[in-house]
Amino acid sequence: MLNRYAIILAAGQGTRMKSKLYKVLHPVCGKPMVQHVVDQVLKLNIANIVTIIGHGADLVKATLGEQSSYALQEKQLGTAHAVMQAKEMLASKEGVTLVVCGDTPLITAETFDALIKNHEEKSATATILTAWTDDPTGYGRIVRNEKGLVEKIVEHKDASEEERCIKEINTGTYCFDNKALFEALEKVSNDNVQGEYYLPDVIEIMKSEGKVVSAFQTNDFAETLGVNDRIALSEAESIMRKRINQAHMRNGVTLIDPVSTYIDLDVEIGSDTVIYPGTMLRGTTKIGNDCQIGPNTEIKDCRIGNETTIRQSAAFNSVIGASVNIGPFAHIRPQSEIFDEVKIGNFVEIKKSVFGKGSKASHLSYIGDAEVGSDVNIGCGSITVNYDGKNKFLTKIEDEVFIGCNSNLVAPVTIGKGAYVAAGSTITKDVPGEALSIARARQENKENYVNKLNIKK
Ligand code: UD1
Ligand code: CA
Repeated sequence: MLNRYAIILAAGQGTRMKSKLYKVLHPVCGKPMVQHVVDQVLKLNIANIVTIIGHGADLVKATLGEQSSYALQEKQLGTAHAVMQAKEMLASKEGVTLVVCGDTPLITAETFDALIKNHEEKSATATILTAWTDDPTGYGRIVRNEKGLVEKIVEHKDASEEERCIKEINTGTYCFDNKALFEALEKVSNDNVQGEYYLPDVIEIMKSEGKVVSAFQTNDFAETLGVNDRIALSEAESIMRKRINQAHMRNGVTLIDPVSTYIDLDVEIGSDTVIYPGTMLRGTTKIGNDCQIGPNTEIKDCRIGNETTIRQSAAFNSVIGASVNIGPFAHIRPQSEIFDEVKIGNFVEIKKSVFGKGSKASHLSYIGDAEVGSDVNIGCGSITVNYDGKNKFLTKIEDEVFIGCNSNLVAPVTIGKGAYVAAGSTITKDVPGEALSIARARQENKENYVNKLNIKK
């Protein structure tokens, strides 16, 4: 087998996106488009991946890191000019080079593989990945001669009325004999409507030199969708979402309404878990078996055990155990660790806290910067007072503590094991284990006082 190389074009601004964010960094199902492309290319046996960077070069580099080598295209003079930037790194190599646009996030390794195989079988100098579509607007068209052989690719903007009727398009993915590619690139001119050096022009150049140019058709246009604007971005997102959701359903996850369930690519879900409508599972979230998630729940970068229920709530960057019951309307903020069999009820916010096994905060609480032991009961309306306007302090609540309703625990403070805090207390000093602490004004009843004041009508 010949050595294989890949060039990913990712230097464009993406003017049609009308965005501050460079086009190839726009996420599709939580992952930048160019990362999707690289992920697929990495599944092939490739000696060197060169990503052409320009607009947002540093950000693209930071996104892909060590997965690729980079060549800088200082001015974006067209796709042929972009590939030329890899000349120093690749031009002298014998082998086959795959060229892919960074804005085709749906393309798969299987398709790359089929393209490369076809290219090698036909001993072609160039093989274009083409697709058919009823609406080819914007794409380069594949012009074939009367024998059905590819003659050239003509860009939409340069195409005649007749050529615009062609429904076979250039997907922007190609396979080339590496040396022949760099030789042909030298001959590309920018004599066209956009004044750009077009990569597709190498096809006509190779053809005129009698080289074998082949086209490999994919029957899945959707996979080759090029994202140039936000409309295509939403199309790509919905196709990718469908793929992801179907994979989960095949794995034994129930999605009540896949159309309104948004799962990022790297999320893992165990079998017999049910996801209700309006749920977003984002980032690197991992959910166990037999869970009930949603409706209307957002979970990002969390690890969740088996048999846990999370309804109409939000949870971020936290670890949540098994048989936990959260919501409705709870908010689990980053760096929280919630152990098994915990109950976090309505209007409870947990921030950067540990919540021990079997503990409960069932209603209207704020627990921030706290270490809560096991089997603790936090009464309705109780809060940790963790912030003095400058610094944050720790509240420690040991095992089996009972915090009465509407208590304030002013940190730093420790409530010892098995202690009771009376309802309505404002605790400013440590409470020893097994003690009852009452920290509120004593009640005084003034008999008949209302009549004395004569405030009754
Ligand atoms: C390109 C093809 C078109 C094909 C379509 C498929 C050309 C001239 N046209 O058109 O035939 O049907 O893709 O989606 O190639 N880029 C650079 N440097 C540049 C210009 C572009 O790196 O100087 C990168 C962009 O970041 C992008 C990719 O190349 O990732 C394609 O560029 P784009 O402007 O989107 O080309 P299209 O007009 O879509
Ligand atoms: Ca494009």
